[in-house]
Formats: sequence, structure tokens, C-alpha cells
Amino acid sequence: MEKAKKIKEPTGKLGVLLPGLGAVSTTFIAGVEAIRNGRGLPIGSLTQMGTIRIGKRTEGQSPLIKDFISLAKIEDLVFTGWDIFEDDCYTAASKAGVLDQRLLDHEKKFLQSILPRKAVFSGEYVPRLNGTHVKEAKSKYDLAGMLMDDIEEFRNQHNLSRMVMCWCASTEVFLEKGPVHESLEEFEKGLKTSDPDISPSMIYAYAALSLGVPFANGAPNLTVDIPALQELAHKNNVPISGKDFKTGQTLVKTIFAPGLKARMIGIRGWFSSNILGNRDGEVLDDPASFKTKEESKLSVLNYILQPHLYPDLYKELYHKVRINYYPPRGDNKEGWDNIDIFGWLGYPMQIKIDFLCRDSILAAPLVLDLVLFKDLAQRAGMKGIQEWLSFYYKSPMHGKDLYPEHDLFIQLMKLKNTLRFFKGEDQITHLGLDYYD
Ligand SMILES: NC(=O)c1ccc[n+]([C@@H]2O[C@H](COP(=O)([O-])OP(=O)(O)OC[C@H]3O[C@@H](n4cnc5c(N)ncnc54)[C@H](O)[C@@H]3O)[C@@H](O)[C@H]2O)c1
Repeated sequence: MEKAKKIKEPTGKLGVLLPGLGAVSTTFIAGVEAIRNGRGLPIGSLTQMGTIRIGKRTEGQSPLIKDFISLAKIEDLVFTGWDIFEDDCYTAASKAGVLDQRLLDHEKKFLQSILPRKAVFSGEYVPRLNGTHVKEAKSKYDLAGMLMDDIEEFRNQHNLSRMVMCWCASTEVFLEKGPVHESLEEFEKGLKTSDPDISPSMIYAYAALSLGVPFANGAPNLTVDIPALQELAHKNNVPISGKDFKTGQTLVKTIFAPGLKARMIGIRGWFSSNILGNRDGEVLDDPASFKTKEESKLSVLNYILQPHLYPDLYKELYHKVRINYYPPRGDNKEGWDNIDIFGWLGYPMQIKIDFLCRDSILAAPLVLDLVLFKDLAQRAGMKGIQEWLSFYYKSPMHGKDLYPEHDLFIQLMKLKNTLRFFKGEDQITHLGLDYYD
């Protein structure tokens, strides 16, 4: 057995800070409240439903993760959010149309009590949106200060012992790393001069990290994936992670691709098309916002299949991803994949996957897990990029000289082994030869 890490107990309330009170956030908040009231199960959440094997197979020890390691209880979560629209959480959830209206009506009073704070927003970064519930200030630095005031007010109002921020707002346009992102000093200068390379999501992240609040990024925006904010996370001992919740089609891709590769099946082409009609789909209909998402979706196969190691199987792979805004579908997306594969002596075959999925139903449990695990990481003294949370992301953030790990099964092993490491338990390698000695 290794030495266990010292983990502070999760006493008191945990505040959940959500920039963006749209489909994902409201499905998450309403879902947590429904679960607390015994109206449903937290399906899709590893922290609530997953188990972890400890010790040898013969010992028969597989506790629930939440019994194995000290996580905040869902009863202790308190929520706040920001949005460019003034709708309270009940109205926003009703408009999002993800959850059944009867379920929302049961939780109406609670949901109506959650009102969005004024957002830090500018149409340059999300061209398809236009809202008026927006903060005004002389500089981006002042906007960050206003967000910090919001966060402190929320902390005091609910007497919170800890907080976590999870970005659930719209995808911003594609931004490349520039000089202002290179160091905290340059970034803070850029905030004061309102540098256009600093997007609203970076301002939220700066506010959170400045106050020692862990940050998770559910969208593909650069946000905390820049040296400046990583420097701030290290300076203030704060865990960060991202980017882009792994749901829907990419989840399916990272389940299928490792399996095909494990059997040395070749892939010539992978065409992924989506139709969806929610606000996210509308935002992604804009080419600049789609480019951010496209980069996130395309990189997955390359890293999983490693064509440089398997040129005969994957070098010629043609990968295409399309997202089409189609209002009649609302949040109920259809993700269609055509995979052209080949086997023994190059004989071609095809796989078609038609996933009739519900985006926010898949994303809500990820928000819950990320909030609870980020809080755990902070209590365990972790800081900077939390690579063990790659499991939840389409574009996992990673260390400077590393490539991201996309294979869902390696990601799960990494996550569970990190939990074992926190508790000083032996790592599970699946070698198992000693059972046959
Ligand atoms: N649902 C999924 O499966 C999934 C998967 C991966 C990533 N995501 C990402 O999660 C995010 C949320 O998705 P959604 O379906 O809830 O979208 P949504 O459009 O329903 O909600 C986003 C909300 O953010 C608000 N917003 C935009 N910019 C803001 C800002 N600067 N500050 C505060 N609020 C702001 C919008 O007004 C909107 O209400 C999107 O970026 C999406 O790409 C979703």
C-alpha cells in the first residue's frame, strides 16, 4: 500500500458557479434537485453510481466511489449562474425543453429562486447571440472585478465553505494562443487594456482562479488552456480542467475507435454528421464558433488511432465532421456515423451508427461529476491541469510535452487509479499472473 494523500473533509456547503444558464446547466440543476427529492436516479454519473475495485479480485471489494472517497454530497450543493438572458432557471429549463414539464413543475419554486447574474459578454465572441443582461465596465479588468464581487456575495449569502466554477455557456469563436496569453503579467496588462484576445470565458476563469475557485471548461473555447491562467492556477493552488464535455457522437467515437484499433482493423473513412435544433446548434451554425468545435471533434481519432505507428491501417483515414442546425429536433440530436473499415487482406466493410441522443441528458451528469471531483482535487491539494479528468472531455487538457489521452477506457483507468492513489491503495494493472502461481 502507498501512503494516502491528506484529504480535507468536505464539511459545509459547496457552491456551484455556472456561467451560462442554458440547456445543460438547467438540466443539471433541475436534475440534482429532482434526485434530492427522490424523483429520479443520477444515471450517467460515475461519482454517484460507479464502483471501484480495491485490492485483488479474490478479495471481492468494490465499494461505490462515493463511499470509497470523501466527496461532497449532492444535498450540500448550492447553485448560482450568469446569463445574457434574464430568465430564471425554471423559465430557462422550460424553454430548453429537455426535461418533462411535469418534472420541472415539481421543482418550480426551487428553480425560480435561481436567477442569472448579469453576464460578461460580447457579441464578437458569440456572433449568433444577442442579449441585454450584460455587465458594463471600462475595462475587462473591471469586469473581472465585478465577477469576483458576485462570487464573494454568493459565498457570503450561503455561508459556503468551498466553490467550483464550470463553464456551461455558449461556445466562443476560435481563438489562437497569442502573446497576451503567454504569462500572467501579460494577461493582467491585457485585461487592463481590454485586449481582444481575452474572451469572456477567460475573464470568468481569471475571476474564479484569483479567488482560489477550481475551474472546469465544458466548451471547446481556449479559456484556461493558456499559460497565463495555468500560471495563476499554480500560484493560487487551484485545479483546472477542460475542454468540451464528451457526450453524444464523440463519446461513441471514443468507445468504438479503441475497439477497432485493438483488433487491428483498418479505417479508411469516418463521416460524422449531426442534426440538432437547440441554441447550442444555432451558435454552432456560425462558422467561427463551429471551427472551435470542429478542432475539438477532429483531433480525437488521430490521437486514438496513432497513424504514425499504424500507417497501413490509418494513414489514409478521411475524417469529416458536420453539425447542421435543424430546429425541429430541439435538444434531441441525431448523430449519424458512417465508418468505412477494412479487414484481412484489405477487404472493405462498413459500420453505420445512428445515435438518437439527448445532448443535455448526457452532459448533466458530467457537470455533477466534474464539480465533485474538482472539489475533491482541491481538498487533496492538487493544482493546475487535472489530466485524470480527461474522461469527461473531448479535448482533454494536458501537460506541455504530452499528447492528450482520448481512449475512454485508458481515461477511466487513469481516473480510478488516481482515486486509488489519493487513498494510498495499490494501483490495478490487470496483470493477474499471481492468481495462477
Ligand atoms: N450538451 C452537450 O452535450 C454538450 C457537449 C459538449 C459541450 N457542450 C457545450 O456546453 C455549452 C452549453 O451547452 P447548452 O446546450 O447548454 O447551450 P445553450 O445555448 O442552451 O446554453 C448556453 C447559455 O450560455 C449563455 N451565454 C452565452 N455566453 C455567455 C456569457 N459570456 N456569459 C454567460 N452566459 C452566456 C447563453 O445565453 C445560453 O443561455 C456549449 O458551449 C456547448 O457547446 C455541450
